[in-house]
Amino acid sequence: METLIAPKHIAIMMDGNGRWGEQRGLTRSQGHYAGSVAMENIIKDSLDLGIEALTLYAFSSENWSRPKEEVNYLMDLPTIFLKEKLPEFMKNNIKVCISGDIQGLPQHTRKAVEEAVQKTKDNNKLIVNFALNYGGRKELLFAVKSLIKDVKNTSVEMEEISNELIENYLYTTGLPDPEIIIRTGGEKRISNFLLWQSSKSHLWFTDTYFPDFNKQLLIQAITEVNEREQTITSH
Ligand code: IPE
Ligand code: IPE
Ligand code: MG
Repeated sequence: METLIAPKHIAIMMDGNGRWGEQRGLTRSQGHYAGSVAMENIIKDSLDLGIEALTLYAFSSENWSRPKEEVNYLMDLPTIFLKEKLPEFMKNNIKVCISGDIQGLPQHTRKAVEEAVQKTKDNNKLIVNFALNYGGRKELLFAVKSLIKDVKNTSVEMEEISNELIENYLYTTGLPDPEIIIRTGGEKRISNFLLWQSSKSHLWFTDTYFPDFNKQLLIQAITEVNEREQTITSH
């Protein structure tokens, strides 16, 4: 077997939880719970594979339009998940980051994510970056507004504005761009995810619903992208 070249940063659009539940005669929320178990496994697998950063699209800025009950459960899940997993994250040297509008989260969710970010801030083996209340356009809008404010208050000169400077205004500041973006669940759309950061990313799609996503598929995605890269560089 060829050796696997682990990417520094993989981003996953964890889609298909609702359909996974419905297909089994369960609720959509039970599908989301099953997704959180798959997510926990993928975090461990990423550690094993030597990936440095994993971004997980957990809730988009568009997802507020879902039924109230489902939204409530999706806002409870990070609280439950982070509280339960924090000791393991500490043990495994995992740093939690959040990309998204945390001001817009319910109080208890915000508190749980802020606590996880604070507690794990000095860990350095794997960054797990939850895209929570995340929207690519919202991120860019916020960046443009902050940048204009800084130009107006003269802390930034117009001539200084570069790709690197813009990156300082994004939620993902400090993270490398993802080499691979995986979307599970069969849809082949970008759904407002990492619009700036995906400039050079390989896209990899699978019909598998996220609760059934596993290490084997993760390795398959990495292997296929490694192969794509070889054909690009050999041209
Ligand atoms: C998970 O999958 C994505 C989240 C918003 C948490 P979905 O809830 O979109 O599941 P499907 O696509 O309806 O099956
Ligand atoms: C994308 O899935 C967002 C997440 C994975 C959190 P959605 O199911 O919300 O996206 P659409 O509705 O297919 O665009
Ligand atoms: Mg979906």
